Amino acid sequence: MLQRTPYPGIFQAFNIKSLFLKNRIVMPPIATNFAGQNGEVTDSMVKFYTERARGGTGLIIIENANIDYPLGKNGARQLRIDHERYIPGLTGLVEGVKKYDTAICLQINHAGGTTSNERTEGRGIVGPSDIPAKRGGEIPRSLTIGEIEDIIEKFAQAAKRVQSAGFDAVEIHGGHGYLINQFLSPLMNKREDDFGGSMENRARFFSLVLREIRKNVGDSFPVFTRISADEFIENGNTLNDTLETLQYLCPYVDVLDVSSGVTDSAHTIVDPSSCPEGWRVYLSAEIKKRYPMPTITVGNIRTPEYAEKVLSENKADLIAIGRGLICDPDWVNKVYDGDTIIKCTSCNQGCTTNRIVKNKPITCIVNPNQFDTLYFL
Ligand SMILES: Cc1cc2nc3c(=O)[nH]c(=O)nc-3n(C[C@H](O)[C@H](O)[C@H](O)COP(=O)(O)O)c2cc1C
Repeated sequence: MLQRTPYPGIFQAFNIKSLFLKNRIVMPPIATNFAGQNGEVTDSMVKFYTERARGGTGLIIIENANIDYPLGKNGARQLRIDHERYIPGLTGLVEGVKKYDTAICLQINHAGGTTSNERTEGRGIVGPSDIPAKRGGEIPRSLTIGEIEDIIEKFAQAAKRVQSAGFDAVEIHGGHGYLINQFLSPLMNKREDDFGGSMENRARFFSLVLREIRKNVGDSFPVFTRISADEFIENGNTLNDTLETLQYLCPYVDVLDVSSGVTDSAHTIVDPSSCPEGWRVYLSAEIKKRYPMPTITVGNIRTPEYAEKVLSENKADLIAIGRGLICDPDWVNKVYDGDTIIKCTSCNQGCTTNRIVKNKPITCIVNPNQFDTLYFL
């Protein structure tokens, strides 16, 4: 492979613990709203991801699955991983993707204060403190220590299920303003016990989640964490804060998936087209200067030339292409073959708007026809 391609960095294999990737392109988690009414894997979902595997993607990180129903719920049709009964469906998804030698990981999450009373079926919402996680958001109930311990255990059990279902790795969602991020953030965490105050205390929930997960999945199973390296919001964590926080997480993490933003700075999570290609690669590059674990970078990376440059400059180890892979499932194979990619414009109309504003399954207005069959499976 290496002899033919002008992109040797992209097509260089990657290995960590038991995980082998045939190339450096990662599909990051994309909540599709393709899950079933009860959080189960559907045929539409299997087809959606299998097409991205057939298109040559090295690793697919499946969209965030809820570890604590209903309090952790994020999204109208979200995957669930809070019970053993979800394992067979997830195994079907794993088998579909692995047929194409694509590795597969599952992201696990608790929405915390970003959810709503309606979404939690009238049970209210929870967070580290009684501070809304977004402008105009509902006020969460502050979690008790007992409840915190319970959620840590739920994360650990969920990670074990991820492993049992046959995934190659698990990713813990520690960013984008969800529960773990709420604990990390001085903006949303005003606790005065061991879980609030100093940076070490604010990192305690995340580090305990990671420690318990590690106990459950063993040493050789790769654990990824997604973080918002800069929250890009007043009084929130900056990159410098994150560089400090990582010392508490680093011992448990195999790969760091470096994202940014919280709900009120969502334009730094799903970047609009006005953001230059790869504008947030520097976050990963700075982390790499200080920490040994491999990183994933993300954010409007659309061309193989740019991806190759990031890898060759050692600013990240893996390149995530999210909406680019919604738009063109064959991105990787086309790059290898020198074919023209159908390029995502970061318009956010079919994907983000459908998923978040309309609570509908995602589509893509640049390349809509591929979705026709998915809706009717
Ligand atoms: C429709 C949609 C759903 C998303 N769902 C998730 C998710 O479940 N978990 C997550 O960490 N990020 C999620 N993201 C963020 C993406 O993983 C990615 O970081 C973001 O789209 C920026 O990368 P891109 O410019 O390559 O698309 C989502 C993005 C979109 C557009």
